[in-house]
Amino acid sequence: MPTKLAGDGKRIAGIALASPWILAPIAGYTDWPFQLLCRQRGLTLTFTPMICAQALAFLSSRSATLKLLDWDRSCGPVAVQIFGSDPQYMASAAKAVADLGADLIDINMGCTVPKIVKKGAGAALLKHPDIACRVAEAVCGAVGVPVTVKMRLGYRCGDGLGLALARRLQDLGVAAFFLHGRYAEQGFSGRADGEAVRLWQNSLRLPVVGNGDIVDGPSAQRMQVTSESPVMIGRGLLGDPWLLERLDAWKNGREVPNPPSMEQAVATIAVHLHLVQRYSKHTELQSVQSFRSHLSQYCRKHRCLQPWRQQLLAQRDYAGLEGLLRAIERH
Ligand SMILES: Cc1cc2nc3c(=O)[nH]c(=O)nc-3n(C[C@H](O)[C@H](O)[C@H](O)COP(=O)(O)O)c2cc1C
Repeated sequence: MPTKLAGDGKRIAGIALASPWILAPIAGYTDWPFQLLCRQRGLTLTFTPMICAQALAFLSSRSATLKLLDWDRSCGPVAVQIFGSDPQYMASAAKAVADLGADLIDINMGCTVPKIVKKGAGAALLKHPDIACRVAEAVCGAVGVPVTVKMRLGYRCGDGLGLALARRLQDLGVAAFFLHGRYAEQGFSGRADGEAVRLWQNSLRLPVVGNGDIVDGPSAQRMQVTSESPVMIGRGLLGDPWLLERLDAWKNGREVPNPPSMEQAVATIAVHLHLVQRYSKHTELQSVQSFRSHLSQYCRKHRCLQPWRQQLLAQRDYAGLEGLLRAIERH
């Protein structure tokens, strides 16, 4: 079992990182098939999307929540992110996911989705530091695996609530911070602030991993503390897992590869679909329907696929999708 260590460039929260790129939690996207697709391209550490602590307390074998926790334990470290504002529920949720084999438990203190904030969870915890500390203390006390916190800079622009809270959290057993360089009220507007990531790192003992707007080498560098630091990437990888190869090439001073050709794109989508078929615990129709959000991202980011978008999104089963992918390849 990993110990609660802090991190250096090559380790975060005691987890050795073969790659500095970490897959961010993205609800609706970072299920196990997508995590695996990114791992096949060299990622060491991936995050589940946020999981409701209260739902975890009432786990039944058929619940949708349990499906989010369905990953292949032999594939290396997986971080499970939980959200909630009740220290007791959060502690029992953390214990449940640790018992299920999570290598790291992350507490969501950055989500701005209204129904979550209204319940006092996610970014609302930035405004209620005493509750946030009680939550972190309860979670850290409940599990032997490292506990991290994913945060934003604060709630309202310039309020500095994030760093003030992080200063307190680092004395409560938390092992590292993942920092989305925006304030909650910004949502996803403006640009993620990389300077803030370095400021936090200079002000805190624990490692701070930058996150926000990484789409290429220079934007990754903007969010790094040093050239060796890991960074967390979310939207940039949706529909574009090839970003990992481009980032690796950039980091190693090699020529950055071109975006994928139509054949390469279709071959990767077929692999992704195969992973969905193999690992999805939903019905075939549900799995194909949720795969549409990925297809939409592939088409959005690769112009060569745009003429096929409508047909791709209209498919209702695996055979239809596979047949269409073969037809696109032959085209
Ligand atoms: C559709 C969507 C879902 C997200 N879901 C989560 C989530 O479950 N937990 C979380 O901490 N952040 C979530 N985020 C935020 C991302 O993890 C990340 O912090 C943010 O998108 C900025 O990074 P990026 O520019 O690399 O995407 C989500 C973002 C988006 C766009």
